Amino acid sequence: MSKPASPDDDEQRKPNLARRRFLQSAAAAATVGAAPHLSAEEQPMAQSAPPPLPAAYPTPPARPVRLTINGRPYVLPLEPRVTLLDALREYVGLTGTKKGCDRGQCGACTVLVDGRRINACLTLAVMHEGQSITTVEGLAEGEALSPIQRAFVEHDAFQCGYCTPGQICSAVGLISDGRARTRAEIREAMSGNICRCGAYPNIIAAIEEAMKAT
Ligand code: FES
Ligand code: FES
Repeated sequence: MSKPASPDDDEQRKPNLARRRFLQSAAAAATVGAAPHLSAEEQPMAQSAPPPLPAAYPTPPARPVRLTINGRPYVLPLEPRVTLLDALREYVGLTGTKKGCDRGQCGACTVLVDGRRINACLTLAVMHEGQSITTVEGLAEGEALSPIQRAFVEHDAFQCGYCTPGQICSAVGLISDGRARTRAEIREAMSGNICRCGAYPNIIAAIEEAMKAT
């Protein structure tokens, strides 16, 4: 014969009840993790929907941008987001200026803007309205190479040649600003122009020679 329930029995049952509830909720959580293919309604603990994506920004319209490139005037219809590098290569067809990293790290895209060397991938074409751009195509006089181009050939200052237009434009800017004189200063001033072929000794020798000739 079973003994009547006492208040002491109720106190003993409480921990068991709490343990059972904990195990039930843990099992429900495990079901959600183990069955990600279930739809939100099917999942015992449905998650809230992700916030909606922001609407795409409208593309600003193209506008005429006036540039003088290698001595010739151009009016280019450019969206404000077009870099100077893309304007030169894609809109004018001057592909001598190379795209290496497209983020200011290699110097392959170096051109001269009003005589100063810059990375064309890091600047927007619209920012140079009315300015004079010189690319590697603008250095020779007809068939006659410029002194720095001749020096690069004579010193064999390239292998694959991909960095060469940027190296040459950078060297022209360096020579004209006149701040580097020694080999160490030239090396430092050219440190933004990477040569993955490692032609650095010949590049520096070519710049030294062109510098002496000016
Ligand atoms: S492409 Fe401009 S710095 Fe590399
Ligand atoms: S010659 Fe090849 S990267 Fe410079």
